[in-house]
Amino acid sequence: MRATAIAHPNIALVKYWGKRDSVRNLPAAGSISLTLGPLHTRTEVAFTGAQGPDRVELDGEEAEPGAARRVTAVLDLLRHGRPDLGAAHVRSRNDFPTAAGLASSSSGFAALVVAADAAASLGLSPSALSILARRGSGSAARSIFGGFVRMESGVRDDGEDAFARPLAPADHWPLSVCIALTTEGAKKVPSTRGMDHTAQTSPYHHAWIADVDRMLPEAEAIIAARDFDGLARLAEASALRMHASALAADPGVLYWNGATVECMHAVRHLRSQGCPAFFTIDAGPHVKVFCAPASTAAVEEALRCVPGVRDVLHATPAGDARALGTEDR
Ligand code: PMV
Repeated sequence: MRATAIAHPNIALVKYWGKRDSVRNLPAAGSISLTLGPLHTRTEVAFTGAQGPDRVELDGEEAEPGAARRVTAVLDLLRHGRPDLGAAHVRSRNDFPTAAGLASSSSGFAALVVAADAAASLGLSPSALSILARRGSGSAARSIFGGFVRMESGVRDDGEDAFARPLAPADHWPLSVCIALTTEGAKKVPSTRGMDHTAQTSPYHHAWIADVDRMLPEAEAIIAARDFDGLARLAEASALRMHASALAADPGVLYWNGATVECMHAVRHLRSQGCPAFFTIDAGPHVKVFCAPASTAAVEEALRCVPGVRDVLHATPAGDARALGTEDR
């Protein structure tokens, strides 16, 4: 009863920022993302068959209690009706910085549920895995699938219709992503706290949710047509509107540092010079810049020139979360 899985993080192009139910972790609106490699989380789950607490190790260290509780909560859903599985030993590693706005929770919970499903030989469907991953982190529901992915908010109270589905595979559109790391260490306001606080206190929250519903069909059409300029306009608008709503909360939630802002200016300058590039930013200070593959070197160079940028990572569209066969390990 042991298995290992790999999942890739995803970056939202139409952002998720707000829940309709915090207990079941149901999003208030849909979202659209691109799954990115080679960044990945690799997670091993072993069910011991013994009673007792789960043991959770993240990046070689015992997980702090809050993180371990989230893992146990997801595993408890999966263990429902299977007391024989017992306590789990979970070992998870990211090959990129954890909890800094780089979507590590997306790949983390996707890898967890795929590994746990394989370890327990449950044979859950991709939609069921997406629903389970969502209970750990909303964005993780999307990392079950590769390529372009749409998350549905659903309407049911039990959340059984709130899962992601693939829109187009990783090779649909060769895009390149440069990730400018503008700080080290974990972010200050976790996404759940930031989005709940925004929903409760931002006067822009309802307008934001209505706007996401308008953006989703437009984004699907843009992705189907591989319309780079259209995606640039839409993805920057989604990111800036998400942050505008968070900034308008009371007190405002501010994820950016000076380098974050300078990166945005650098990207817009590149674009004005004819370089196809656009930015997006999640619940952290890093800036993700999408560009045509031929422009990757120019984008990287421009980002490295921004004072405060510590490193630039590269990513390209990646595939589904998957359990590893014994030959892969
Ligand atoms: O999955 P969570 O709860 O970490 O929230 C993700 C929120 C954003 O990354 C900011 C946006 C998104 O859609 O991924």
